[in-house]
Amino acid sequence: MEIEASNIIWHSSTVNKEQRQKLNQHYSCMLWITGLSASGKSTLANALEYRLHEMEVRTYLLDGDNIRKGLNSDLGFGAEDRRENIRRIAEVARLFVDAGVMCITAFISPYQQDRDFARNLVSLGEFVEIFAKCPLSECEKRDPKGLYKKARSGKIPDFTGITAPYEEPKNPEIMVETNKLSIDKSVDRVISYLYNKGILFF
Ligand code: ADX
Repeated sequence: MEIEASNIIWHSSTVNKEQRQKLNQHYSCMLWITGLSASGKSTLANALEYRLHEMEVRTYLLDGDNIRKGLNSDLGFGAEDRRENIRRIAEVARLFVDAGVMCITAFISPYQQDRDFARNLVSLGEFVEIFAKCPLSECEKRDPKGLYKKARSGKIPDFTGITAPYEEPKNPEIMVETNKLSIDKSVDRVISYLYNKGILFF
């Protein structure tokens, strides 16, 4: 079914993002964690959410495997499907930012162009790219789900780092080397960044 976009008109709500943020007493942004499978994205995302929650910051976490079981269960791992995966997630994350919530995302998001799409959906400073950097050899050693092993033996096509690319962020706001830094220290780094940039509390 063709949908005529010009017949759809954006309706501004009476209560806006700034008012919601004021009620929450903190700003909202996307904390976009990217990295290889098994690089520690979900671990970092959960620890970060826990810390922010303790600080009475309203949060929501969107995580790769969970979203792929629901909203994006129709998508695979070819470049086009990954783009659509990230596009939908970015749109959902944008709604959370508009709702005044700190939205943490943990997806491989291997393509710079797709991450930039997410960045461009929100205002300047509202997208914080966090690179969970970990050498492929280490991720493969960890292999918590046994997926690298399957990918090496040809049982999973288009596997990131093995038979599909991962484009490292060129200029991430934050980089954490998850094989060198403890989870606590990695979270500290993100929290410090948010404080220093004045994007946590009013
Ligand atoms: S993304 O590339 O589209 O951003 P996403 O983060 O949603 O990926 O999903 C990655 C998760 O799906 C991995 O952690 C892994 O558990 C699983 N997975 C299954 N097949 C693949 C594959 N071909 N490449 C990468 N991850 C895969």
